[in-house]
Amino acid sequence: MFKKTPGTKDILPDEVSSWQTIEETTRNIFSFYNYKEIRPPIIEEAALFNRSLGESAEIVQKQMFLVKKDKDVYALRPEGTASIVRAYLENNLDKTAGLIKVYYIGPMFRAERPQKGRLRQFHHLGCEVIGSQVPYLDAEIISLADNLLKAYTIEGYEIKINSLGCTKDKKEFTEVLRKSLKDKIPKLCDDCKVRFKTNVLRILDCKNEGCIEVVKKLDIRQNHLCPECKGHFDKVKEGLDSLNIDYKVNPYLVRGLDYYTRTVFEIIHGDLGAQNALGAGGRYDNLVHDLGGPSTGAIGFAFGIERLLLVASREYRVESKKLVYIITLGEDAKKEGLKLLNNLRRAGITSDTDYEDKSLKGALRRANDLSARLVLIIGEDELKKGAVALKDMVSGEQKEVKQEDLIKSLKLIVTGQ
Ligand code: HAM
Repeated sequence: MFKKTPGTKDILPDEVSSWQTIEETTRNIFSFYNYKEIRPPIIEEAALFNRSLGESAEIVQKQMFLVKKDKDVYALRPEGTASIVRAYLENNLDKTAGLIKVYYIGPMFRAERPQKGRLRQFHHLGCEVIGSQVPYLDAEIISLADNLLKAYTIEGYEIKINSLGCTKDKKEFTEVLRKSLKDKIPKLCDDCKVRFKTNVLRILDCKNEGCIEVVKKLDIRQNHLCPECKGHFDKVKEGLDSLNIDYKVNPYLVRGLDYYTRTVFEIIHGDLGAQNALGAGGRYDNLVHDLGGPSTGAIGFAFGIERLLLVASREYRVESKKLVYIITLGEDAKKEGLKLLNNLRRAGITSDTDYEDKSLKGALRRANDLSARLVLIIGEDELKKGAVALKDMVSGEQKEVKQEDLIKSLKLIVTGQ
């Protein structure tokens, strides 16, 4: 028998409702902030990611799923930001739309070693705002991430923020770091030995114990920020304070993708284990220009949906019981049952029946397995009276209801209206 490929997941019918709930909340909240949805393709030219994320980024070095077709090399997208900027430029949105605010929900692919919360096909819900460098936007976008988490009923997360500064600041910071780490190379893990040459900033957020010890002893503050970038970061913090957002400045926070400049942030959750980031984001003020467009500011973030579902409350994830299940006893009742089923569905009531002729006991067991909220039983007696027996599967009570009053009673119980 075939098996799914490692690091992928079947989202089974029982789990899909949690996904739909999270997607619905996401669409609502983004629409309150006046974001529009965008759906770029899942496959892109591989070079787009090499160029955007940086040749030395781990995703580019080790994790891209590449698809070769004739002479062309494509990649299953490992993230959304590069695709969105490509779409923004290719469709001339920079010329027609001014500032654009978009969100996306969909699968991403990274060939990582699978473990709890780390998959090879996972899902992002994310957003990008292109066309402004205003620090108020940074504060708004972090507060939007915070509002999304609150709407998913997630508690106990921590928002960490930092500023990497502009390209020049990042370069200076890299040099300072390289100098202070130079005589500590033997103590670093193998990955960080490579990072020392290719991407020294990443050493700051390495999870290896030995590297953490080395990094702890470095005196990292935000001294590398130029006056403009410092001023920008101060305004971001002021904005967050005025929006009452709980955050911590963490000067060790760097991100694994080259495109980030100035504000970066990460939201972590203690219950997630080693892969503790629920989501992350930041500014990428050079990327639009680097991909051939005008110089313009941009910022965004993405959450991993699988990780959100690991920490969202059960009440939020489990669909409230709505199903009305019809049980018919005998051929005549079955005909009546089919008509009733049709009427209920037309009235917007989720309903189903047992198409097989099961015994009452067997049919009730099936209703129970389907988590039905209400069961309607039609037998000979009910047929004669033009009524149904209505069984409340939560309270266990049973009563007779006339057919003409049925839809009203059902709606009251199922939807409360
Ligand atoms: P990222 O930090 O690479 O950022 O991914 C964002 C989130 O996706 C992570 O915090 C995590 O929750 C989830 N995630 C990443 N890799 C995996 C995985 N292998 N399995 C499960 N979940 C995963 C970005 O991708 C940026 N594009 C975010 C951004 C948007 N920055 C600006 N705009």
